[in-house]
Amino acid sequence: MKKIIDDIFYVGVDDLKLDLFEGQFAIPDGISYNSYLIVDEKVAVIDSIDAKFGDEWLANLEEVLEGRSPDYLIVQHMEPDHSSSIRKFTEKYPEAQVVGNQKTFVMLGEYFGAGFPANQLAVKEGETLSFGKHSLRFIFAPMVHWPEVMFSYDAATRTLFSADAFGKFGALSKREKNWEDEARRYYFGIVGKYGAQVKGVLLKVGSLDIDRIAPLHGPVLEGKKLTTAVHHYKKWAAYAPETDGVLIACSSIYGHTREGAEYLAAQLEKRGQKVKLIDLIRDDWAECIAQAFRFPKLVVAATTYNGEIFPAARNFLTGLAERNYQWRTVGFIENGTWAPVCARQMRAKLEDCKNLVFTEAAVKIRSALSEQSRAEIDALAEELSRNG
Ligand code: FEO
Repeated sequence: MKKIIDDIFYVGVDDLKLDLFEGQFAIPDGISYNSYLIVDEKVAVIDSIDAKFGDEWLANLEEVLEGRSPDYLIVQHMEPDHSSSIRKFTEKYPEAQVVGNQKTFVMLGEYFGAGFPANQLAVKEGETLSFGKHSLRFIFAPMVHWPEVMFSYDAATRTLFSADAFGKFGALSKREKNWEDEARRYYFGIVGKYGAQVKGVLLKVGSLDIDRIAPLHGPVLEGKKLTTAVHHYKKWAAYAPETDGVLIACSSIYGHTREGAEYLAAQLEKRGQKVKLIDLIRDDWAECIAQAFRFPKLVVAATTYNGEIFPAARNFLTGLAERNYQWRTVGFIENGTWAPVCARQMRAKLEDCKNLVFTEAAVKIRSALSEQSRAEIDALAEELSRNG
């Protein structure tokens, strides 16, 4: 098993079989369920893993423990990808205390039956549990990503165990291209709605000396990678764009709406704008959502379908609204042969989002691009190119 530092070991497992994480996020490179072990005068395990890999996880523990038994299982997060092996653990190590907070134990009772586990140790915000040289201070992180979530900080090694925060898609055995792409897709897919709470916990841990962050998915972050990750998290939590330019999110049935989107891209580029065009039908949904948060400006191009927004665009807008999409400029291109009405509906989807500016220029394509719709796209490009 991999030693992280001093007495801290990685005992998690890669999942390369699962197709959809949380039943909806494609994970072509798998995912890791991380678990850590502190071997000191007392032994503490930090989080269990998905039940499908419970035996493998317990074998990893045994390999490091060489006959010792854990004294504590720290439960930072109750989502089943981290908690569903807890019963297996308590059956094997009935003497170990299960450490959580009040909310953790309510959820443990819901998943495993009232009164489970027998050996509970409830901690409060800011409390510290000592194991010898090492200790863990518990920092509550409600809604990052569930209400019971807590981070744990070991001052001896300056290690922050951050639960889901700072996690990413991708198994550890897979070669990582860069940290941020799959971390961004994971963040906005899973935690994006809770920017205020992420900001809150970043403030709480801001005064700590941190040499490494050990999340529940993805690699342990140290050095340059740690700096990059914190930089991105501050931006993402504040809903701040990462780059200039315009994202054009297009869904086209026969290619005419796409033609309008491409014409807009060309007009924007002519005016010096950086442009990214994505296909809402074929591109990964979570990646489309993540891209929308990268850019300060968005144009959604869609067809009216059954008197509604074409499904791919509807799902995209629903996903943005659910994730508190905000502080952006948004425009629309609608298409329809006899009753184009979806621009109004698309705007309505985002009506409750805070701090959005909708463009004055509106584009209505009647079946295919015309002189009229080209002129409307020119006006939209002009408006989006003003002020940067
Ligand atoms: Fe990785 Fe919210 O569970």
